[in-house]
Order: sequence, then C-alpha cells, then structure tokens
Amino acid sequence: MKIIQISDCHIKNDNSLVYGVNSKQRLYDVINNILFSKIEFDFILLTGDISDDGSIESYAYVKNILSKLNKKIYFINGNHDLKSNLISTFSDNQMFINLDEILIENWVFIGLDSCIEGKDFGNLSDSELKKAEIIIDKAKKLNKNCVIITHHHPLLVGTPLIDDCPIMNGSNLVNLIEKNNHIKLLITGHVHNRYSIRIGNNAFLETGFSSFAQFQYTGSNELTDIDKDNFGYTYYDLSENSYKCYSILID
Ligand SMILES: [Fe+2]
Repeated sequence: MKIIQISDCHIKNDNSLVYGVNSKQRLYDVINNILFSKIEFDFILLTGDISDDGSIESYAYVKNILSKLNKKIYFINGNHDLKSNLISTFSDNQMFINLDEILIENWVFIGLDSCIEGKDFGNLSDSELKKAEIIIDKAKKLNKNCVIITHHHPLLVGTPLIDDCPIMNGSNLVNLIEKNNHIKLLITGHVHNRYSIRIGNNAFLETGFSSFAQFQYTGSNELTDIDKDNFGYTYYDLSENSYKCYSILID
C-alpha cells in the first residue's frame, strides 16, 4: 500500500504570501509533480493546516486542486483550520473523508483530533484518547497493525520554533504507543519538516514536509528561520508488517 502525505498547505483566501511564499502556487506545483511523475499511490493523507485563514474559499481552492488526483483524500484538521468550514466545504465531494478509523489490508489508520480552536498548541481530549484505545485494542484482536495520525507532534523534535506548541499531554499518546507493539507508525504534520524519531521498541514518529515552506531544524524565529526553498510531500510504502518512508522535494 502506497500513501502520499500532503501537509501544512496554509492556503489563504486573499493571495497574500505566507512566510514570504505563495502557498497556493506551491500546492499547485506539488499536485502537478504527483500527476506528471505518475507516482503510484492508493490514497492521500492531508494532515492539517490545510488553510492558513480558515476561509471557505481556501478550502474550495484545495478541494478543486486535489480533486485532480482522483484518489481518496483522508484529512484531519490543524490549528490554523476552522473545522466547521473545512468539513462543510469538503462535504459535497465523496473523495474527501474526515479521517476517523479505516482498515486497509493489514493496517488500521486512526485519525485523532489534537486541536483546540484558537490555540496553536494541541491537546488530546479524554474522548479522543479513549477512542484510540478502543480501536487499538480491536486492531490487536484482529492481528492488524496501527498507524496513528495527528496534526500536532506529541514529543519534542528539537526545533524551538515548533516545540512551543506540541500536544501538551502528548505523553499519554506516547505511552499508548510504547505499550502496544502493533502500533508501528505515528504520522503528524505541524512541524513543517521531516523528522523520524523512534518511540519505544516498535514505532516511529514520521513528520511530513509542508507543501510550501519548512521551519529550519534549529530555528527559533518565525521571521528569519524559514526554509523557503524546499517544499514537497512525503511518501509511505507499507508492506504487511513494516513500512518505508521517502521525502519528495520539488525543484
Ligand atoms: Fe500546525
């Protein structure tokens, strides 16, 4: 099974730049690259901060451009998204599915909402954690592996610019992963760069590129520590019990 993760598109309604970059043009370039490269994939994971301003128009732009891929798009919301506008704008296209729980081949994908409206940092509510536990237990009984998808990162990645706003109670999720060997993978957006960090004995946190600009690995300043040159997407190739992860940057 092959998956493309597109993350942190930060589309704006008014065409103004985000960190000095045209995020609309960059998403257009990403989608064209996927189309013209003829890369094989089964579905898209869209891991939040789809919009920068939460506007209906920004979601309509994303819906229009991603529809060209003609594959299912499982999405979660990020701290910049306005969930009500996101859901309502995507709701008339059956290709777009708010990720909750899906079973595909030997893998169960679990989408958890880590957002608190109006806040940049994240939190996992008791009900989201309970939902995760129930699905994880069910997957264990079915002898399936799990992939968890959140917008925010639950453990610090070492970049001051983004470690200000992780999932504040992320240790709950990390503990859950550490005690369940059938959870192989945690995928997040939010950090605007690629990290691969081991969790426990069997899992990794893999984070996706932003589709328009990255935070420099040592960055602490939102004005100066932006990598405007690199953008792209992240590619996962899942076999029965393991996976490989590739970074795709666009020239
Ligand atoms: Fe974010």
